[in-house]
Amino acid sequence: MNREKRHHPHGESIILAGIYAENHAWSQRDEILAQRLGVPRIMEMPEKGTALVVSETGLSLLSIDERGMAMRVRVDFTTGKWRQRIASVRGERLIRAMGRKAGPATTIIDATGGLGRDSFLLAAAGFHVRVVERNPVLAALLADGLLRAGESRVTRKISARITLTCGDACHYLQQQNHRADIVYLDPLFPEQKKSARVKKELQVIRKIADKDDDPAPLFAVARTAAAARVVVKRPQHGPWLDNRPPSYSVSGKTVRFDIYLVES
Ligand SMILES: C[S@@+](CC[C@H](N)C(=O)[O-])C[C@H]1O[C@@H](n2cnc3c(N)ncnc32)[C@H](O)[C@@H]1O
Repeated sequence: MNREKRHHPHGESIILAGIYAENHAWSQRDEILAQRLGVPRIMEMPEKGTALVVSETGLSLLSIDERGMAMRVRVDFTTGKWRQRIASVRGERLIRAMGRKAGPATTIIDATGGLGRDSFLLAAAGFHVRVVERNPVLAALLADGLLRAGESRVTRKISARITLTCGDACHYLQQQNHRADIVYLDPLFPEQKKSARVKKELQVIRKIADKDDDPAPLFAVARTAAAARVVVKRPQHGPWLDNRPPSYSVSGKTVRFDIYLVES
């Protein structure tokens, strides 16, 4: 089995067996992705482990555990479930937490992109979102999902409101010439006891993103980079980020949005 252990710039090591082309001719685009991620092309799926899979339906991350149980994650904003969420997006607490009328006049930086679900909701409401994700595998999955969303009649306009950057958001925020109105943060929550209830996507993010990373430095940079507010997603009963009391919160059943108004 062809396995490669790779260290990404933030210390955490991830094991990605490689990229596998499933019922799909290996293209130049796949080769570029493999080179960019520094992983080899593999000719068969490993019996156990994690690999990126390219197929006609896009890019997915396939993880097979010791018991042979497979978990596949693909970013797909064109499903019926997403259509429903898009239709009722104005009722989302995430949108309320922004405190602004959605439109191109308000700029949002989503500094912890993950698989882009929150960015997509924000863009579906009408905001223009610049999303930053530092994990190159997650960024590749999100880029692929946005590309396919851009090809669908229903999601094309939403996808066009999102710009993705793969890199560290601290650095990205410090490089900005103009402050964005809102910086949104959704750092990984501390591991929860009811892990069986954790959504598949979050399980995958947990598997490959930095778990022990301290979000406090990013939070500090966000507070200087935002012109109006920083919005932080937390577990409903979780502590404030960096023990800092927010200006106010918007609470839901499982999550809470803490709003830090920036004094101008
Ligand atoms: C809980 S996930 C975010 C999920 C996301 N809100 C969604 O809707 O899919 C947190 C993500 O933030 C990313 N992250 C954490 N610190 C970062 C930083 N300094 N720069 C860029 N990305 C970061 C992690 O790699 C991880 O993918």
